[in-house]
Amino acid sequence: MATRSRSLTCTRAWICAETFSMPAFGSKGFTRLIKTLLWPLCLAPLLWLGLGAFELLGFNLGANPVEKLLHELGKWGLKFLLLTLAITPLRYWTGWHWLVTFRRLLGLFAFFYLFLHFLVYIVLDRYLDFSGLLEDIVERPYITLGMTGLLLLLPLALTSTRGWMRRLGRRWKKLHRLVYASAILGVWHFYWQVKLDTLEATVYALILAALLLARIVHSRRKAARIQVRSETLLPEDSGGAPLRR
Ligand code: HEM
Repeated sequence: MATRSRSLTCTRAWICAETFSMPAFGSKGFTRLIKTLLWPLCLAPLLWLGLGAFELLGFNLGANPVEKLLHELGKWGLKFLLLTLAITPLRYWTGWHWLVTFRRLLGLFAFFYLFLHFLVYIVLDRYLDFSGLLEDIVERPYITLGMTGLLLLLPLALTSTRGWMRRLGRRWKKLHRLVYASAILGVWHFYWQVKLDTLEATVYALILAALLLARIVHSRRKAARIQVRSETLLPEDSGGAPLRR
Protein backbone atom coordinates (compact mmCIF):
# COMPACT_ATOMS: atom_id res chain seq x y z
CA MET A 1 0.00 0.00 0.00
CA ALA A 2 2.75 2.38 1.06
CA THR A 3 4.61 1.77 -2.19
CA ARG A 4 1.46 2.53 -4.23
CA SER A 5 0.75 5.89 -2.58
CA ARG A 6 4.41 6.94 -2.92
CA SER A 7 4.38 6.16 -6.63
CA LEU A 8 1.14 8.16 -7.04
CA THR A 9 2.75 11.17 -5.35
CA CYS A 10 5.75 10.83 -7.63
CA THR A 11 3.53 10.63 -10.71
CA ARG A 12 1.57 13.70 -9.61
CA ALA A 13 4.75 15.64 -8.97
CA TRP A 14 6.08 14.59 -12.34
CA ILE A 15 2.87 15.64 -14.11
CA CYS A 16 2.94 19.02 -12.33
CA ALA A 17 6.56 19.58 -13.26
CA GLU A 18 5.85 18.66 -16.89
CA THR A 19 2.76 20.86 -17.06
CA PHE A 20 4.03 23.98 -15.38
CA SER A 21 7.75 24.09 -16.13
CA MET A 22 8.72 27.25 -18.03
CA PRO A 23 10.16 26.38 -21.45
CA ALA A 24 13.82 27.26 -21.92
CA PHE A 25 14.55 30.75 -23.32
CA GLY A 26 14.54 30.66 -27.12
CA SER A 27 13.29 27.05 -27.33
CA LYS A 28 10.36 25.99 -29.54
CA GLY A 29 8.11 25.81 -26.48
CA PHE A 30 9.18 29.34 -25.50
CA THR A 31 8.36 30.86 -28.92
CA ARG A 32 5.03 28.98 -28.89
CA LEU A 33 4.24 30.49 -25.48
CA ILE A 34 5.16 34.03 -26.64
CA LYS A 35 3.06 33.56 -29.79
CA THR A 36 0.08 32.51 -27.65
CA LEU A 37 0.51 35.67 -25.58
CA LEU A 38 1.08 37.82 -28.66
CA TRP A 39 -2.32 37.02 -30.20
CA PRO A 40 -4.46 38.63 -27.47
CA LEU A 41 -1.99 41.52 -27.24
CA CYS A 42 -2.27 42.18 -30.99
CA LEU A 43 -6.07 41.98 -30.82
CA ALA A 44 -6.34 44.25 -27.74
CA PRO A 45 -6.47 47.54 -29.77
CA LEU A 46 -9.32 46.10 -31.86
CA LEU A 47 -11.20 45.07 -28.71
CA TRP A 48 -10.71 48.55 -27.23
CA LEU A 49 -11.94 50.23 -30.45
CA GLY A 50 -14.86 47.77 -30.74
CA LEU A 51 -15.97 48.46 -27.14
CA GLY A 52 -15.64 52.19 -27.82
CA ALA A 53 -17.58 52.02 -31.09
CA PHE A 54 -20.53 50.28 -29.37
CA GLU A 55 -20.10 52.28 -26.14
CA LEU A 56 -19.75 49.16 -24.01
CA LEU A 57 -18.22 48.82 -20.52
CA GLY A 58 -17.80 52.58 -20.25
CA PHE A 59 -15.63 52.93 -23.38
CA ASN A 60 -16.39 55.53 -26.06
CA LEU A 61 -14.67 57.09 -29.05
CA GLY A 62 -15.44 60.73 -28.26
CA ALA A 63 -17.33 63.32 -30.27
CA ASN A 64 -16.27 62.06 -33.70
CA PRO A 65 -16.16 58.24 -33.47
CA VAL A 66 -15.57 57.63 -37.20
CA GLU A 67 -12.55 59.95 -37.25
CA LYS A 68 -11.21 58.41 -34.03
CA LEU A 69 -11.66 54.90 -35.46
CA LEU A 70 -9.97 55.88 -38.73
CA HIS A 71 -7.01 57.53 -37.00
CA GLU A 72 -6.46 54.82 -34.38
CA LEU A 73 -6.61 51.99 -36.94
CA GLY A 74 -4.11 53.88 -39.14
CA LYS A 75 -1.76 54.39 -36.21
CA TRP A 76 -2.01 50.79 -35.00
CA GLY A 77 -1.36 49.56 -38.54
CA LEU A 78 1.75 51.71 -38.69
CA LYS A 79 2.91 50.56 -35.25
CA PHE A 80 2.66 46.91 -36.31
CA LEU A 81 4.47 47.72 -39.57
CA LEU A 82 7.35 49.31 -37.64
CA LEU A 83 7.42 46.42 -35.17
CA THR A 84 7.70 44.02 -38.12
CA LEU A 85 10.64 46.01 -39.47
CA ALA A 86 12.27 46.07 -36.03
CA ILE A 87 12.54 42.27 -35.85
CA THR A 88 15.60 41.91 -38.13
CA PRO A 89 17.79 44.59 -36.45
CA LEU A 90 16.77 43.29 -33.01
CA ARG A 91 17.68 39.75 -34.07
CA TYR A 92 21.18 40.74 -35.09
CA TRP A 93 21.88 43.00 -32.12
CA THR A 94 20.65 40.60 -29.47
CA GLY A 95 21.48 37.30 -31.19
CA TRP A 96 17.88 36.22 -30.44
CA HIS A 97 17.26 34.67 -33.84
CA TRP A 98 14.01 33.09 -32.64
CA LEU A 99 12.45 36.59 -32.88
CA VAL A 100 11.99 35.90 -36.58
CA THR A 101 9.14 33.51 -35.63
CA PHE A 102 6.94 36.52 -34.84
CA ARG A 103 7.65 38.58 -37.97
CA ARG A 104 4.90 37.02 -40.08
CA LEU A 105 2.30 37.42 -37.33
CA LEU A 106 3.18 41.10 -36.77
CA GLY A 107 3.23 41.78 -40.52
CA LEU A 108 -0.19 40.21 -40.98
CA PHE A 109 -1.58 42.25 -38.09
CA ALA A 110 -0.17 45.41 -39.74
CA PHE A 111 -2.03 44.53 -42.92
CA PHE A 112 -5.18 43.63 -40.95
CA TYR A 113 -5.31 46.99 -39.11
CA LEU A 114 -4.52 48.98 -42.26
CA PHE A 115 -7.17 47.13 -44.23
CA LEU A 116 -9.68 47.97 -41.45
CA HIS A 117 -8.43 51.60 -41.66
CA PHE A 118 -9.24 51.55 -45.38
CA LEU A 119 -12.65 49.88 -44.74
CA VAL A 120 -13.62 52.55 -42.18
CA TYR A 121 -12.69 55.20 -44.73
CA ILE A 122 -14.62 53.69 -47.65
CA VAL A 123 -17.66 52.45 -45.67
CA LEU A 124 -18.17 54.87 -42.78
CA ASP A 125 -16.55 58.02 -44.17
CA ARG A 126 -17.28 57.74 -47.91
CA TYR A 127 -20.46 55.58 -47.70
CA LEU A 128 -19.12 53.17 -50.37
CA ASP A 129 -18.76 55.97 -52.92
CA PHE A 130 -16.09 54.32 -55.10
CA SER A 131 -16.02 57.10 -57.70
CA GLY A 132 -15.35 59.49 -54.78
CA LEU A 133 -12.49 57.23 -53.71
CA LEU A 134 -11.02 57.39 -57.24
CA GLU A 135 -11.32 61.19 -57.16
CA ASP A 136 -9.56 61.23 -53.78
CA ILE A 137 -6.76 59.01 -55.08
CA VAL A 138 -6.20 61.41 -57.99
CA GLU A 139 -6.74 64.72 -56.21
CA ARG A 140 -5.50 64.17 -52.64
CA PRO A 141 -1.83 63.15 -52.65
CA TYR A 142 -1.91 61.77 -49.09
CA ILE A 143 -4.66 59.33 -50.15
CA THR A 144 -2.56 58.35 -53.21
CA LEU A 145 0.34 57.58 -50.87
CA GLY A 146 -1.82 55.62 -48.39
CA MET A 147 -3.51 53.63 -51.12
CA THR A 148 -0.17 52.74 -52.74
CA GLY A 149 1.24 51.75 -49.34
CA LEU A 150 -1.69 49.43 -48.69
CA LEU A 151 -1.62 47.92 -52.19
CA LEU A 152 2.09 47.14 -51.76
CA LEU A 153 1.27 45.18 -48.62
CA LEU A 154 -1.38 43.06 -50.36
CA PRO A 155 0.99 40.70 -52.27
CA LEU A 156 3.09 40.37 -49.12
CA ALA A 157 0.10 39.27 -47.06
CA LEU A 158 -0.99 36.84 -49.80
CA THR A 159 2.46 35.26 -50.15
CA SER A 160 3.29 35.10 -46.46
CA THR A 161 2.70 31.34 -46.20
CA ARG A 162 5.45 28.69 -46.17
CA GLY A 163 4.06 27.31 -49.45
CA TRP A 164 4.58 30.64 -51.23
CA MET A 165 7.97 31.05 -49.60
CA ARG A 166 9.02 27.70 -51.12
CA ARG A 167 7.42 28.44 -54.50
CA LEU A 168 9.05 31.85 -54.89
CA GLY A 169 12.47 30.85 -53.51
CA ARG A 170 14.91 33.78 -53.67
CA ARG A 171 12.27 36.02 -55.24
CA TRP A 172 10.25 35.82 -52.00
CA LYS A 173 12.88 37.81 -50.10
CA LYS A 174 13.08 40.39 -52.88
CA LEU A 175 9.28 40.74 -53.03
CA HIS A 176 9.03 41.16 -49.27
CA ARG A 177 11.44 44.09 -49.37
CA LEU A 178 8.36 46.04 -50.53
CA VAL A 179 7.49 46.31 -46.84
CA TYR A 180 10.08 49.11 -46.59
CA ALA A 181 8.48 51.06 -49.44
CA SER A 182 5.05 50.56 -47.86
CA ALA A 183 6.27 51.86 -44.48
CA ILE A 184 7.87 54.92 -46.13
CA LEU A 185 4.64 55.68 -48.00
CA GLY A 186 2.60 55.08 -44.82
CA VAL A 187 4.67 57.52 -42.75
CA TRP A 188 4.66 60.04 -45.59
CA HIS A 189 0.84 59.69 -45.84
CA PHE A 190 0.58 60.31 -42.08
CA TYR A 191 2.87 63.34 -42.25
CA TRP A 192 1.04 64.84 -45.20
CA GLN A 193 -2.43 64.72 -43.69
CA VAL A 194 -1.47 66.25 -40.31
CA LYS A 195 -2.72 69.80 -40.14
CA LEU A 196 -0.98 71.39 -37.16
CA ASP A 197 0.89 69.21 -34.69
CA THR A 198 3.48 67.22 -36.61
CA LEU A 199 5.26 65.87 -33.52
CA GLU A 200 3.68 62.39 -33.56
CA ALA A 201 4.21 61.90 -37.29
CA THR A 202 7.83 63.07 -36.83
CA VAL A 203 8.39 60.44 -34.12
CA TYR A 204 7.12 57.70 -36.47
CA ALA A 205 9.33 59.09 -39.27
CA LEU A 206 12.42 59.06 -36.99
CA ILE A 207 11.75 55.48 -35.85
CA LEU A 208 11.40 54.38 -39.47
CA ALA A 209 14.61 56.23 -40.43
CA ALA A 210 16.49 54.49 -37.58
CA LEU A 211 15.18 51.08 -38.67
CA LEU A 212 16.15 51.69 -42.30
CA LEU A 213 19.61 52.87 -41.22
CA ALA A 214 20.07 49.74 -39.07
CA ARG A 215 19.11 47.65 -42.09
CA ILE A 216 21.64 49.42 -44.34
CA VAL A 217 24.44 49.09 -41.74
CA HIS A 218 23.66 45.38 -41.33
CA SER A 219 23.64 44.75 -45.11
CA ARG A 220 27.01 46.54 -45.52
CA ARG A 221 28.60 44.59 -42.67
CA LYS A 222 27.28 41.34 -44.13
CA ALA A 223 28.67 42.23 -47.59
CA ALA A 224 32.06 43.15 -46.04
CA ARG A 225 32.14 39.85 -44.12
CA ILE A 226 31.38 37.87 -47.29
CA GLN A 227 34.15 39.73 -49.13
CA VAL A 228 36.70 39.08 -46.36
CA ARG A 229 35.73 35.40 -46.35
CA SER A 230 36.05 35.07 -50.12
CA GLU A 231 39.43 36.89 -50.02
CA THR A 232 40.65 34.48 -47.33
CA LEU A 233 39.63 31.51 -49.42
CA LEU A 234 40.90 32.92 -52.73
CA PRO A 235 44.06 34.98 -52.06
CA GLU A 236 45.48 36.74 -55.11
CA ASP A 237 48.81 34.90 -54.93
CA SER A 238 47.08 31.51 -55.06
CA GLY A 239 46.21 32.24 -58.69
CA GLY A 240 42.51 32.10 -57.87
CA ALA A 241 42.74 28.53 -56.52
CA PRO A 242 40.94 28.06 -53.21
CA LEU A 243 43.13 27.27 -50.18
CA ARG A 244 42.58 23.92 -48.55
CA ARG A 245 42.12 24.17 -44.79
C1 HEM B 1 0.34 51.86 -45.58
C2 HEM B 1 -0.92 52.28 -45.55
C3 HEM B 1 -1.45 53.32 -44.57
C4 HEM B 1 -0.95 53.75 -43.39
C5 HEM B 1 0.32 53.29 -42.69
C6 HEM B 1 -1.86 54.74 -42.87
C7 HEM B 1 -1.72 55.40 -41.68
C8 HEM B 1 -2.45 56.50 -41.28
C9 HEM B 1 -2.20 57.28 -40.12
C10 HEM B 1 -1.11 56.98 -39.10
C11 HEM B 1 -3.10 58.28 -40.08
C12 HEM B 1 -3.17 59.43 -39.10
C13 HEM B 1 -3.77 59.18 -37.79
C14 HEM B 1 -3.80 60.44 -36.96
O1 HEM B 1 -3.73 61.56 -37.48
O2 HEM B 1 -3.93 60.31 -35.74
C15 HEM B 1 -3.95 58.14 -41.23
C16 HEM B 1 -5.00 58.95 -41.52
C17 HEM B 1 -5.83 58.79 -42.59
N1 HEM B 1 -5.73 57.80 -43.54
FE1 HEM B 1 -4.34 56.35 -43.64
N2 HEM B 1 -2.90 54.89 -43.75
C18 HEM B 1 -2.69 54.04 -44.80
C19 HEM B 1 -3.51 53.85 -45.87
C20 HEM B 1 -4.66 54.57 -46.08
C21 HEM B 1 -5.60 54.31 -47.15
C22 HEM B 1 -5.49 53.17 -48.16
C23 HEM B 1 -6.60 55.24 -47.04
C24 HEM B 1 -7.82 55.42 -47.87
C25 HEM B 1 -7.89 55.22 -49.12
C26 HEM B 1 -6.28 56.08 -45.91
C27 HEM B 1 -7.03 57.16 -45.50
C28 HEM B 1 -6.76 57.96 -44.42
C29 HEM B 1 -7.57 59.10 -44.02
C30 HEM B 1 -8.81 59.62 -44.73
C31 HEM B 1 -6.98 59.62 -42.87
C32 HEM B 1 -7.46 60.80 -42.02
C33 HEM B 1 -7.15 62.09 -42.65
C34 HEM B 1 -7.73 63.27 -41.88
O3 HEM B 1 -8.21 63.11 -40.76
O4 HEM B 1 -7.69 64.35 -42.43
N3 HEM B 1 -5.11 55.63 -45.36
N4 HEM B 1 -3.54 57.04 -41.95
